[in-house]
Amino acid sequence: MNYQIICEAAEYVRSKIEKQPKIGIILGSGLGGIAEKIENKIEIPYGEIPHFVQSTAPGHKGQFVSGILSGVPVICMQGRLHYYEGHAMEQVIFPVRVMKVLGIETLIVTNAAGGINLSFNVGNLMLIEDHINFMGRNPLIGPNIPELGPRFCDMSYTYTPELRELAKKTAAKLGIDLKAGVYLACSGPSYETPAEIRAFRTLGADVVGMSTVPEAIAASHCGLNVLAFSLVSNMAAGVLDRKLTEEEVIEEGKRNGAVLQNLIMEIIAQLK
Ligand code: HPA
Repeated sequence: MNYQIICEAAEYVRSKIEKQPKIGIILGSGLGGIAEKIENKIEIPYGEIPHFVQSTAPGHKGQFVSGILSGVPVICMQGRLHYYEGHAMEQVIFPVRVMKVLGIETLIVTNAAGGINLSFNVGNLMLIEDHINFMGRNPLIGPNIPELGPRFCDMSYTYTPELRELAKKTAAKLGIDLKAGVYLACSGPSYETPAEIRAFRTLGADVVGMSTVPEAIAASHCGLNVLAFSLVSNMAAGVLDRKLTEEEVIEEGKRNGAVLQNLIMEIIAQLK
């Protein structure tokens, strides 16, 4: 991948949308609902965009939705790409780079995740304060793109402290119980084993999932502010004496996605 390829994709999207977006949003499994709240919506299927690949994950639509949310021009990924689908990491982070070239300043990311922290329950929302990358691959491997950022990218403030503060204040104002913690990313697609989950708890992880970390690293590299949330869709393997299913992850998104949606809309209104 080079900068030119990213610009070509961005140019196509720019030719379709009305306003330069200020905020990019990536929606996780079963969490696509916020895209329905966007006004003056323009939908751009990934398949139309030069150099894009399609999302095949369940609960993911596969299009950009651009328009106005809480009075702010946004571009939203309704459906993201995952490493476990077989895409190269550079494909997984490609849309983040396209949104950067389109002019976004902030990236908001959501996901469904398994609860590792024993004080968490299904349906809890967690603000991601930091992450552990256990995907076995860093998305910045390969030639650096100097137009975007440096070869060695600092990760000390990946989840922008001011935005985390704003999220906590806004959640308190809305009476939302917002947990905070560390997201650990595995490649998937198998869920983790109970032994892995016990190990991850010892390492300091609060939730586990199969996304978000590549996008957050790419965003950090190109200087975007990042705000990320997990919806605890299930307790991680071995926490409860039962099997995990794909369906419960999507169902929980539908059940509790609205709370996250309200929180994000209220935060965006304050980023005007
Ligand atoms: N593990 C990994 N990814 C997930 C989980 C999980 O338990 N739940 C939702 N995404």
